[in-house]
Amino acid sequence: MTTPSQTPTGGDAATGSLAGLARRGFELLQEQDPQLYELLESENRRQGEVLAMVAASSVADPSVLVCEGTATVNVTTEGYPGARFHAGCEVVDAIERLAVDRAKAAFEASYANVQPHSGSSANAVLLFSLLQPGDTLLGLDLDCGGHLTHGSPASVSGRYFDAVAYGLTPEGLIDYDQVEELALRHRPGLIICGASAYPRRIDFARFRDIADRSGAWLLADISHIAGLVAAGVHPSPIDHAHFTTTSTYKQLYGPRGGLILMGRDHDTPGPDGKTPLSRLVQRGVFPYFQGTPNLAAIAAKARALDKVGSEAFRRLARRIVTDAATLADVLGDKGYRVLTGGTDNHIVLMDILASRGITGLVAEKALESCNIIINKNRIAGDRKSALVTSGIRLGTNSLALRGMGEVEMRRCAGLMDRVLSAVQARGERDYRLDEGIRESVAADVRALCVQYPLPDYSPGADLDRGP
Ligand SMILES: Cc1ncc(COP(=O)(O)O)c(C=O)c1O
Repeated sequence: MTTPSQTPTGGDAATGSLAGLARRGFELLQEQDPQLYELLESENRRQGEVLAMVAASSVADPSVLVCEGTATVNVTTEGYPGARFHAGCEVVDAIERLAVDRAKAAFEASYANVQPHSGSSANAVLLFSLLQPGDTLLGLDLDCGGHLTHGSPASVSGRYFDAVAYGLTPEGLIDYDQVEELALRHRPGLIICGASAYPRRIDFARFRDIADRSGAWLLADISHIAGLVAAGVHPSPIDHAHFTTTSTYKQLYGPRGGLILMGRDHDTPGPDGKTPLSRLVQRGVFPYFQGTPNLAAIAAKARALDKVGSEAFRRLARRIVTDAATLADVLGDKGYRVLTGGTDNHIVLMDILASRGITGLVAEKALESCNIIINKNRIAGDRKSALVTSGIRLGTNSLALRGMGEVEMRRCAGLMDRVLSAVQARGERDYRLDEGIRESVAADVRALCVQYPLPDYSPGADLDRGP
């Protein structure tokens, strides 16, 4: 293989450096498309100035971002390293192998597929590889914290398969007895565990036991908690579930994309009794479900997965959890109805309608007007629509990355409370907020963001800043 300083012909390099290319790209964009350039700059600025508490998001390190702006974008191919359908893949093969090795190392997995374009694609690959249309699937109800791809009728997962949903106990915990009862009654081909809005630990061993006794495959979707799992802060499903999926832009602080991981079951025979499950996944991603891999995203996944293995990341993961616990405690003390009474991960779920008589939509909009970004979320038994909701969901991935700890969580909870206690609802969608309160909270948010900048988005900050 040629190195960056060599060319295949041994002559002078025909292109400049990566950094030069990026610089030239920004120059051209600014010259030729100032409208788009300004929009991109605005988004960059906005992210620095807000308290981002959307639990499904994080902030990619600049070294992750730049991977997606390299010439790797120009490589079109199909297949896997060493078995491509096009020439010119020597370098991208090495990149994909690196990403696979790092994914396996980060999760102590025996098999990793880094090609899924998203977490949803990763789940769809498994659904369509393991089940026939009409087969039964058992997943967590959407309003109880499940994801669209776990059997919701709004998604292909609920349209093409006979989806049965399990729910929560009155305390808001996964109702494992119900999972067991439904699994033994309906004999699903696949059970999905994992969630989008569940603040407590998931018992993967219990799910596997139920899957084994009911003859189902088990898929653990750890999209939300992948960072905690990799850091050992949440138990790992890798050797409990037959398959583990995750999206890469949430708690892995990576690019848009997905992963499929497998542990001890990688060579277990699949539904036909002979094809190993890892082979089924390999074929399921390509050619069954996807076409060309996004090699730039795969490079960015490799970069993010390298950071996940560091001691600094393990410290960050611990801070994510302690921050969320503090936020839940302080908000609970201020009289908010925190579901399950707290959290074991990065998520704090609240019934805001019961707490302050306002909908999730009003809370979301009022907080956004003060640069605090959260999301409305339906909660178990919700009578409001998905665009209105009775609940809100908070997450600490980005605040912890900024280096905020207990003291700052108390400040964040105080800022939220100042807004949410002052909001006057005008129906489900509209509200009034005193302009003086809005301005003073927005100023305090700005000060907090300046004091705790996004690492490396502004000079002088780093991941190691202690909680
Ligand atoms: C549990 C879970 N699975 C899958 C997904 C989908 O991931 P993506 O947005 O990459 O398709 C999400 C995203 O919100 C999620 O929360």
